[in-house]
Parts: sequence; C-alpha cells; structure tokens
Amino acid sequence: MTLLITGGAGFIGSTFVRYALRHLQPQVVVNVDKLTYAGNLENLASVADDPRYRFVHADICDGARMDTLFAEERPDTVVHFAAESHVDRSILAPAPSLDTNVRGTFVLLDAARRYGVGRFIHVSTDEVYGSLEPPLEADELFPLNPSSVYSASKAGADLLALAYFTTYGLPVIVTRASNNFGPHQFPEKLIPLMICNALDDQPLPIYGDGRQVRDWLFVEDHCRALHAIIARGRVGQIYNIGGSRALPNLEVVHRILAITGRPDSLIARVQDRPGHDRRYSVSSEKLTRETGWEPLVDFDDGLLTTVTWYRENVTWLEHVRSGAYREYYAGNYDARTDRLTRMRAAATSRPRWSPAFREARSL
Ligand code: NAD
Ligand code: TYD
Repeated sequence: MTLLITGGAGFIGSTFVRYALRHLQPQVVVNVDKLTYAGNLENLASVADDPRYRFVHADICDGARMDTLFAEERPDTVVHFAAESHVDRSILAPAPSLDTNVRGTFVLLDAARRYGVGRFIHVSTDEVYGSLEPPLEADELFPLNPSSVYSASKAGADLLALAYFTTYGLPVIVTRASNNFGPHQFPEKLIPLMICNALDDQPLPIYGDGRQVRDWLFVEDHCRALHAIIARGRVGQIYNIGGSRALPNLEVVHRILAITGRPDSLIARVQDRPGHDRRYSVSSEKLTRETGWEPLVDFDDGLLTTVTWYRENVTWLEHVRSGAYREYYAGNYDARTDRLTRMRAAATSRPRWSPAFREARSL
C-alpha cells in the first residue's frame, strides 16, 4: 500500500503516520504538509529515519504541486487530515479555513479523480451537525447545521467529497469524529491549553458558563477507527466516530486540576465564544456494527497519559509556544479576560519564591 497522508505533521495526522507505519504494513507513507503554525516535524522524529516514510513540504491548495505528487507517488489510499482545525482561529481570521478546508480538499479530490485512487478518506468532524439539544444524538443522516466558519468549511468539504463519489465514482469515505485529545496536540484546544496553563500556574480561561458538552475521543482510538474504515468501510459512506465520553468543559478542567494538583482558583470565567455550540453528540453505532470498532481508552486514563506527556515534553512545548503563539494567545484571550485576571497572570509568571508571586495569588 502507498499511503498519502495530508496534514501528517499535525496532532491527529502525526499520530496516524506513526500508527500506520506500525499497524498498516504500508510500502510507502508520504506525508504532505504545509507546516503551518500547527504542523510540527518534531511530532514525527521517531519515524523520520524509517525508509518507508517520506515528507513533502507543500500546500494542498497548490494544484500543480498536487498533480506532480499524485503522478509520482500514485497513492492507492489517501487519508486527508490537512485543515485549519481551530474554531477560535476561524472566528479571528476566516479566510484560511475556506482556502485549506474547501479549496484544498477540492484540489486533492480532483487530483485523485484524474490519477485514480483505491480509497479517499476525508477526515471530518461531528461539528458539521451543529449544536444538539439533549438527548439528541446525530447519526450519519442527521441534517448538517454548522455554526462556525470552521465547521461550515468542513461541511462544505464533506459535501464536495460525496459529490465526487456520486458524480465521478471516486471511492470516497467521509469520517466525522468527535473532539480528540492526547499527546502532541497544539495547546490552543481545550485540553492541552488547560493542561499547559495549569502546569504553569496560569489562569484557565473558561468560555461562558463552562457547561458546554463535548464527547472526548482519545487520538489512538480515532486512528484505530480510521484503520477499520480503510480495511472494511464502504465507499460513498459517512461514518461517525464518537468517544462515548460526553463531559461539560468545567468537569474536564476540574479533572485536569486534580491530576496536576493545582487549585480551583486558577479557573477564570471569560467572555463566551461567539456562536458557541452548547453540545455535540454523535452515534458511532454504524461504525461499530460494520467494523466492530469501539473506543478502548477510558477518558481518565487518556487524560493522565496526556498530562504526563506534556509534563515530560517541556522542550516540545517551548518550541510550539513561540512568539506567534503568544501573539495568538493575546489576540484571542486579552479582549475577553478582565483586568484582574490579566494582572494575576502577569504576576504569577514571576518566580514562585518572589513576594510578587505570593501577592498575586492573594489578588
Ligand atoms: P492540526 O491543526 O493539529 O493539524 C493540521 C495539519 O494540517 C498541520 O500539520 C498543518 O500544517 C497542516 N495544514 C494546514 N493547512 C495546510 C495546507 N494548506 N496544506 C498542507 N497542509 C496543511 O489538526 P488536527 O487536530 O490534527 O485535525 C486533523 C483533521 O481532523 C482536521 O481535518 C480536523 O478538521 C479533523 N478533526 C479534528 C478533531 C480534533 O479534535 N482535533 C476532531 C474531529 C476532526
Ligand atoms: P475546542 O478545543 O476549541 O474544540 P471545539 O470548540 O472545536 O469543540 O473547545 C472545546 C470546548 O472548550 C468548547 O466548548 C470551547 C471551550 N473552550 C474554553 O472554554 N476555553 C478555551 O480556552 C478553549 C480553547 C475552549
């Protein structure tokens, strides 16, 4: 098997590259990635010398480059992860989500149509169904109702991918996973951001009332689901991949504080996200029925593994929390955080033994 993975330097993509080399017996794994702020080759250090692995630094929106890539590599399976993946960034700057998630997906689908592939797995998200009132649970026929630019761009790409199946017979499968967590996740999403801030004794910014519900899926379980879908999924189909672990955000943050041994006083309520979805919920019944897949990693075990990984990978964290990260952080959080919280954050970043630190804690 020649496997073409897009976005393989990101969180889920890099976990899947490592997983595929271990479990899928590929002849070649080609990873094409633009290395945006979220792409990090350090995630792939353990496979960089594997003779079956190749990295191609390119933008999936570059049609000529993708043509050459398909012509040279002739992949039989494409697993398409590359995306602008963060809702908050899509609110601050919508254009990149449209470019990569919609246009980039189109470029890949069209190259796959012209050169031919055995399977095109389009990795999408449960966010395309929008916010669901309890006890609703979306199956694959549930109407699409995306709320953010991110989820709307993913929904657009899903529909394009399915149109390529219907119109051209391209062997597309669309997957819609719930919120992933695990090692190597860029610290902009809820779980890694809260872990990193807690480890640094910094405020944990909870949007709104913190009662929004997400269904958590450990990233290795997501990779196992994609493996099952490559092996046994039916083309032209959509498969939801849920974690079967729905939790309100505040509950997730309390568990992170318990594991890291930090006080509840670090929790800082901040201004809500515009258009914030209250609750996502998907049924993975179809995937389980057709392939036997089920999530295996218990949420608390996965969270402990994740916290331990961030504790032990300080250098990785230092590299990703560069100046650009600090700029993003200030842009997203300063405007929604009150002055007192910012003063406390600034002061607690001083050494723990300093009077300023003790004073800040008492603010
Ligand atoms: P990520 O942001 O960690 O990684 C995205 C990767 O894509 C990065 O390596 C980046 O450099 C690359 N990339 C971005 N634009 C590109 C372009 N134009 N050309 C080539 N490469 C480009 O994302 P992630 O969290 O690993 O998500 C991967 C996929 O899974 C996305 O499609 C996302 O929509 C989907 N998904 C994510 C989650 C989640 O919880 N993170 C849940 C469900 C679905
Ligand atoms: P996120 O990880 O961005 O994933 P998504 O919005 O795509 O589901 O956010 C998960 C939840 O956590 C969501 O309800 C927003 C909330 N959240 C916060 O309360 N504070 C934060 O700093 C972040 C990043 C997210």
